[in-house]
Amino acid sequence: MSEQRQKFYITTPIYYVNARPHIGHTYTTVVCDAIARRHRMFGHDTLFLTGTDEHGQKIERSAAANGKSPQQFTDEVSGEFRALWDRMGITYDKFIRTTSDEHKRGVQAMFSLLQERGYIYKGSYTGQYCVSDELYADDNTPGTPCPVCGRITETVQEENYFFKLSAMAEPLLKLYEENPNLIYPETRRNEVIAFVKTTLRDLSISRTTFSWGIPVPGDPAHVIYVWLDALCNYATAVGFGSPLPADQQRYAHYWPADVHMIGKEIVRFHCVYWPAFLLAAGLPMPKQIVAHGWLLFEESKMSKSRGNIVRSETILEVLGADALRYFLFREIVFGQDGSFSFDALVQRFNSDLANGLGNLASRTLSMIQRYFGGEIPYPSATIAHTPAEAAIARLAEETIVEFNRLFDAYQFSRALEALWGLLSAVDKYIVETQPWAVAEKEDRDSRSRLGTILYTSAEALRIITALAHPIIPTSTAKIFTQLGLSDISKTDLNTLHWGQLNVGTRLGKIEPVFPRADKSAIERMQQMEEERKSAAEAVAAPEATPAAAVAVAPAVPAPEPVAAPDAPAPLSPEITIDDFVKIDLRVGTVLTAEKVEKADKLLRLTVDIGLEVRQIVAGIAKAYAPEALVGRKVVIVANLAPRKLRGIESQGMIVAASLGEHGSPALAAFIEAVPNGARLK
Ligand code: ME8
Ligand code: MG
Repeated sequence: MSEQRQKFYITTPIYYVNARPHIGHTYTTVVCDAIARRHRMFGHDTLFLTGTDEHGQKIERSAAANGKSPQQFTDEVSGEFRALWDRMGITYDKFIRTTSDEHKRGVQAMFSLLQERGYIYKGSYTGQYCVSDELYADDNTPGTPCPVCGRITETVQEENYFFKLSAMAEPLLKLYEENPNLIYPETRRNEVIAFVKTTLRDLSISRTTFSWGIPVPGDPAHVIYVWLDALCNYATAVGFGSPLPADQQRYAHYWPADVHMIGKEIVRFHCVYWPAFLLAAGLPMPKQIVAHGWLLFEESKMSKSRGNIVRSETILEVLGADALRYFLFREIVFGQDGSFSFDALVQRFNSDLANGLGNLASRTLSMIQRYFGGEIPYPSATIAHTPAEAAIARLAEETIVEFNRLFDAYQFSRALEALWGLLSAVDKYIVETQPWAVAEKEDRDSRSRLGTILYTSAEALRIITALAHPIIPTSTAKIFTQLGLSDISKTDLNTLHWGQLNVGTRLGKIEPVFPRADKSAIERMQQMEEERKSAAEAVAAPEATPAAAVAVAPAVPAPEPVAAPDAPAPLSPEITIDDFVKIDLRVGTVLTAEKVEKADKLLRLTVDIGLEVRQIVAGIAKAYAPEALVGRKVVIVANLAPRKLRGIESQGMIVAASLGEHGSPALAAFIEAVPNGARLK
C-alpha cells in the first residue's frame, strides 16, 4: 500500500456580509492560517476553508438599508473579505459563499436527508427572534433583550418546519462524553453540556416572512433557517450533496473537518445544533470545535453594531500584515478575551519585531557580509568552539520541541515567548562574544572563532525564522531569502534541527525587514480610523441602531419645511428650572411602527428608551410612513402619565416640532450618535 499523507481540514466561521471585516474577523482567520501553514510545513494534505454567510433577514435588511439588491450587496462585501484576506497573507484553499450553487444544492440535500430520516416536522412557532444573531430566543418575552447581544428581540409568529432537537439531548451528551476533545477549551465544553442537559427544545428551521435564503425542497414558500444553511458550508465546501463522483470522493476524503475554529458567541450553534444535525443525518462528526475569546476595544467586544471596530487595513497600511499577525498571537491569550490598542500594537512591534527579530537578522547578516564576503562561514567544532555555542545549539533544539508543543496546545502566546527566549539568548551571545572585536584580530584562530560565532547566530536565526513563519509569513520569507535560502514555506518541520545551514551559502540582498515605528505611527492609525468613522456615519451605518432597523429613508416625502400657513405661537408663561427638571425627556429608538386601525392620524410605536420598551401612540401618521420610523432615534416625554388613545395605552409622548394646527409634525432628532436612555436637559 502506498503511503497516505495525513489529511488536515480546518475552517473559520463564514462571516456575515452585513458588516465589513474588522480585526475580530482577522483574528480567527489569521489563527487558522498559521495552523494551516504549519500543517503544510509538516507535509500534511491541508485544506483551509473560509468564506461568507450571505443569506437571512439580517443581510436582507442591510442590503435594503444600503439601497442595494441582496445579491449585489453580498457580492460587494464578500469581495471585500476576500481582498482583505489576500492582503493579510491568508492562504485559504477554498472560499465558500452560501449563495453559490454548490452550497445551495448541498443544503437542500441536507434538509431532505433530515426529512427522510424523520427528524423534521411542520408546526407553528410563536416567540422571540434576534435578527442580529439570527437566533431563536426561546426564553424571551416580547420586548426583552437578546441573551447574546442585548438587542431587543422581535416577535415571530409563523408556520415553520421544525427539527427534532429535543430528541437529540441523549445522543449529544453521549457524544460529548465519548469525545472529551470535541469541544475546546474545557470551559466551553462544560457550558455546552449544561445547556444540553437543561433546555433542548425543537428548533424552527425555516422562515416564511422574507425570501433571501435557500428554498425548502418542495415548499418554496419557506426558506431554510440561516444557521442550518450556514453550518452546512463546512460539508458542502468539500462536495457534500453533489451528484458528481469527483465531489463525492473529495467529500469522503476531507470530511469530517479536523478543526472548526470559532468565536465563543457562536458555540451553541457549532457545538449543539451542528452536531445534532450531523447525528440526525448519520454523518461523521468534526474532530474538534475550538472557541476563542473576544477581541475587545475600549473595553467592550469589538463589533460593528457597537461602532468600536478597528479595521485591519489601517494597520496593514502603516505597519504591515505581520505586525498585526504577530500582535494577535503574542498579545492575546488564546481562549480568553484580550484587548486591542494601537499603543500595545506599536510597542510589541518595536520590541519584538523591529528591535528583536529584525535587529538580529540585520546585525548577523551584515557581519557575514562584511567579514566573510556574504558567505555562511565554517563553524569550528574544535579550537574555536566554546560552551557558549553548545548552549545555543542545545537551547535551539529544546525550543523547537517546546514551540511545537505549545503551539499544538493552542498556547500561541507562550510558544512565541519560548521562541523569543531563544532570540534573546542569541542576542546576549553576540554581545558577549563580541564578533566585531574578534574581527579586528588577524590570526587564524580568531578568524575561525569569528566564523563560529556568526555561523551560530545565522543558524539560530534560520531556526527562529522557520518556526515563526506560519505566524509572520512575509517578513520571515524575506529573512530566509537574505540568508540565501529558498522558499521558506517548503521547510520540513518534521526534520528541522540544528546544524542544517550549509557552509558557503551565499546571502541574498540585505534589507531592513521591519519599518521602524514611532509615535507618529500610532497617530496615523488613529487618524485613519477617525476619518473612516466619520465617513461611515455620513452614510448612516445600517447596524448603528438595534437589529430591528431597516432603511431610515422616509417612504413618504419628507414634510415640507416651509410654507406654513400659521404664525409662530406666542411664548408660554415663564417657569423655573425646577419646573423644567420635572419633565423627563429621554432618547429612544423606534423598534416597531404600525398604523392604528380606523385612525388615519395615529401610529402605534414601540420605543426602546434604554431602561425599558414603551408603547407610544403618536399623531404622526400623515407625516411618516411606519417603515420609515423603524430604527430612528426619537425623543420621548418619559414621565407623562399613561393615557389611552383609541383604546390603546400610550406610555409617553414623542417630541416633534410643528408650526400651528396645520403644520406637519417633524420629529426631534440628533446629528450626533446618542445612546438610548440618554436624558435631555
Ligand atoms: O457569526 N473578537 O458571523 P460573524 C474575536 N455568520 N473574534 C471576533 C470578533 C471579536 N471582537 N468579532 C468577530 C457569524 N469575530 C456567522 C457564522 S458559521 C457557520 C456562521 C470572529 O460575521 C469570530 O470568529 O458575526 C466570530 O465567531 C466570528 O467572527 C463571527 O462572525
Ligand atoms: Mg457576530
